[in-house]
Amino acid sequence: MKKRVVAFAGKGGVGKTTSLALFLKYLIEKDSSEILVIDSDPDANVGDVIGKEISFNQTLASKMTELKEKIQNRSLPLDMPKNQIIEGDVFRSLIEMDKFDILEMGRQEGSGCYCFINSVLKNVIDTLSENYDITLLDSPAGLEHFSRKTGRNVTDLIIVTDPSKMGIHTMKRIIELTKEVSLEFENIWIIGNRFPDSLKEALEKEVEEISESNIKLLGFLPDDKTISEYNFLGKNLLELEQDEKVYQKAKEIFRTII
Ligand SMILES: Nc1ncnc2c1ncn2[C@@H]1O[C@H](COP(=O)(O)OP(=O)(O)OP(=O)(O)O)[C@@H](O)[C@H]1O
Ligand SMILES: [Mg+2]
Repeated sequence: MKKRVVAFAGKGGVGKTTSLALFLKYLIEKDSSEILVIDSDPDANVGDVIGKEISFNQTLASKMTELKEKIQNRSLPLDMPKNQIIEGDVFRSLIEMDKFDILEMGRQEGSGCYCFINSVLKNVIDTLSENYDITLLDSPAGLEHFSRKTGRNVTDLIIVTDPSKMGIHTMKRIIELTKEVSLEFENIWIIGNRFPDSLKEALEKEVEEISESNIKLLGFLPDDKTISEYNFLGKNLLELEQDEKVYQKAKEIFRTII
């Protein structure tokens, strides 16, 4: 099987993390492929929806903060290249779950530039995802991520939008930006989350008008009260019942990707 790196993007609060969790559930139940989830949202929340509490010292950011201090105090071993140290830190930050691993980026505390660390990190993450069949990447809301040209090895970009003007606007801006920084994806998939029937056609039209051969409407996920309940009560979305309508629908659309 070809390795896939699937990134979720879109306006804040449109359902990126929820969609990722549904996709993850589908993948876990489908087969035993090696799955990595990278949470690059500094306001960490993949853990929240899959019933896993992740503390700051489990995040890569905490290790990078330590590293930065060591660089500043010149207390690093001189005979070891920094990128090797960072690579080691990344591997030590992997959180092993039953059926998949999580890399929680976390928030980099303190002031000053992490430019060097960030640039090495990008490469390390590309290397890391080569060890897995499928990598799911939860991006922070908005566009800054793309303007920094992260995610060079992403094969599938999923842009989630809700039925709002701003959701659609961000979707379009992301598509424009990926062109501006010449990021190339095999596929860009659009998910319409929580669309009422009356607005589905409008999104279909929007996507048609973009008329790029690699940009397709993946489908719609319904506004679902069980999702609200799970979120409100802090329950694990991976434990949704099989016959739950929203999960049935999720399986149907994600089947197109894998
Ligand atoms: N299909 C749905 N039905 C009901 N509630 C939903 C649905 N999709 C998302 N939600 C709810 O909407 C809220 C935002 O969802 P989610 O956290 O997945 O969005 P996000 O795009 O990841 O947000 P952020 O930009 O903050 O990371 C959550 O409370 C979630 O439970
Ligand atoms: Mg999120």
